Amino acid sequence: MNISEIEELKRLYAEVSKHSNYQILSKRLSLLLTNNEIKVKTRYEEERLKYILKNISIKNKKVLDIGGNTGYFTLEFLDYEAKLVHYYEGNKTHADFVRLASGILGVEKRIKITDSYFSFKDELKNERYDIVLLLNVLHHVGDDYGDKELSIEMAKQLIIKELKSFTGKTDFMFFQLGFNWKGNRNLGLFKDGTKTEMIDFITQGTRDFCDIVKIGIPEKEGQGVKYFDQRATNIGRNDELGEFLNRPLFIMKFRN
Ligand SMILES: C[S@@+](CC[C@H](N)C(=O)[O-])C[C@H]1O[C@@H](n2cnc3c(N)ncnc32)[C@H](O)[C@@H]1O
Repeated sequence: MNISEIEELKRLYAEVSKHSNYQILSKRLSLLLTNNEIKVKTRYEEERLKYILKNISIKNKKVLDIGGNTGYFTLEFLDYEAKLVHYYEGNKTHADFVRLASGILGVEKRIKITDSYFSFKDELKNERYDIVLLLNVLHHVGDDYGDKELSIEMAKQLIIKELKSFTGKTDFMFFQLGFNWKGNRNLGLFKDGTKTEMIDFITQGTRDFCDIVKIGIPEKEGQGVKYFDQRATNIGRNDELGEFLNRPLFIMKFRN
């Protein structure tokens, strides 16, 4: 690592785009770039990672991270000894950031980087993974990727079809979906914007090809936030927490 690489990382992270400043830096990267050098936001990556680690062992797993953004999960999974992480990201600046970061962190041999939008059609061919991360991507269908002329009903059908496309391609998936199509609060995917509606939609839509093993729900704990298994006391919509922290984190087991 040299100073110009660090400068380039800072430049790439700071480049403004729709999903820039979305994730915090992975732990080891944050030791190289201090928080006052780089303005980071968080969508509760550490809290989500904790819940994931509690439920699955990463060691020696082959992982696909679709919409990997600035690599928080990809780089953390590599540090938790994943055998390989295939990082897939449509935004080229984010992908350049992760490419450079992976070299600096010395994990470039265990990462595969594809800097294009995943179409959920035929890119996986004969590939198979142990774990797929599909976190907060599918509500961007018809926006970040896919047909721009979709109606909201068609988008919902496509979300299920895109999930189904992983049959035979992975054992487990960690999945999150936003409540608002394209991130637009006037385009709610569910009538009342509740967790229950989302959970029913995903459970019913996927029941022919996968089982929902668990659902993580964020709750306030002390000054912070923690994901707990779904239970009677956390299943209601909680407007105090904001939209992101109402999104359930699904753990899905595919029947292959
Ligand atoms: C809302 S962010 C979520 C980031 C990350 N998955 C998380 O939950 O922290 C969505 C990311 O997915 C990327 N993206 C959207 N559609 C994609 C697609 N079809 N293939 C690959 N990347 C995509 C965006 O560029 C963005 O970085």
